[in-house]
Amino acid sequence: MEGVIDHHMRHLLTRIGGYDHCVTEFVRISGQLLPPVVFYRICPELAHGSQTKSGTPVTLQLLGGAPGVMAENAQRAVELGAAAIDINFGCPSRFTNSKAGGAILLKEPERIYSITAAVRCAVPDEIAVSAKIRLGYETTDLAMENAKAVEAANASFITVHARTRVDGYHYPARWEWLGKINDALSIPLVANGDIHSVDEFLRCRDISNCEDFMLGRGAVIQPDLARQISAIQLHTSIPLMKWHDVIALVIEMAGYMRVQPEMKEKKVLGRIKQWLVYLRRQYPEAEALFGEIRQVKQLSKVDALLRLADSSGYNS
Ligand SMILES: Cc1cc2nc3c(=O)[nH]c(=O)nc-3n(C[C@H](O)[C@H](O)[C@H](O)COP(=O)(O)O)c2cc1C
Repeated sequence: MEGVIDHHMRHLLTRIGGYDHCVTEFVRISGQLLPPVVFYRICPELAHGSQTKSGTPVTLQLLGGAPGVMAENAQRAVELGAAAIDINFGCPSRFTNSKAGGAILLKEPERIYSITAAVRCAVPDEIAVSAKIRLGYETTDLAMENAKAVEAANASFITVHARTRVDGYHYPARWEWLGKINDALSIPLVANGDIHSVDEFLRCRDISNCEDFMLGRGAVIQPDLARQISAIQLHTSIPLMKWHDVIALVIEMAGYMRVQPEMKEKKVLGRIKQWLVYLRRQYPEAEALFGEIRQVKQLSKVDALLRLADSSGYNS
């Protein structure tokens, strides 16, 4: 997730467990072959076997609207070590859509086909090529056609975020569509949208009949959600992650970020506050802590408050 889940977060979250693989933030392709440094910045795991430190495979995601240059960049990504490529046809950003990338392409199934097919042809067969779509731009009229275009282009699987571009991130995900599309395809479908808790996972599974799921915001709202879901799938259960362990993750994330030369103090503060905003949906303690730090502008003070929360919440 752009601006939320970078390689530090992938490391922390996959270490908890439950993920079969994870996907990078998108690499924006706009008209040229990008230098290796861009790929390594978004996906440092390329230099480590395309895996997080805990061994979870990392898929590199590309976003763009021109088949030829998408194919060239996919080829380069694979030369640099990418083990799998995903194509983003879901990004709703006005900027992205104005550059003919992301969800705007859902208006043109033939372009979904040609981009996916070009990328598929450009990389060796053993490299998985997948695509992520929404149900459409304004309406769901082309949902099936777009999904079939991905399949016809020989993608290894498809991920469907069960909302349209116009739905944004707010309207409830339309899980019933996932089952309909899944029934019509022969490639696997990964269900996505509004799986933010174990209960939502169970309801999504019941309604969609899908077997594979992608977490979006749920991964940061409840850091052990994938592990919880994985336990349920194995008919076991595992205690929920305690606030003490969650705050320790936030402290660890802040520690990684502050030593990055490109991460200015303000940006690190922003990322800490951003995570607490997500966490407060699951942990009341995060709400209280966010209230304490929201106006604080010095990283050292926020650090001290995080550490205080860590020590006082030891038994919670
Ligand atoms: C801030 C933000 C950034 C995102 N960045 C990406 C991205 O780079 N690539 C992608 O495929 N999806 C991205 N997404 C979409 C999520 O992966 C997911 O499809 C969407 O949030 C729906 O799932 P959810 O309701 O579980 O969050 C982003 C979502 C958010 C909120």
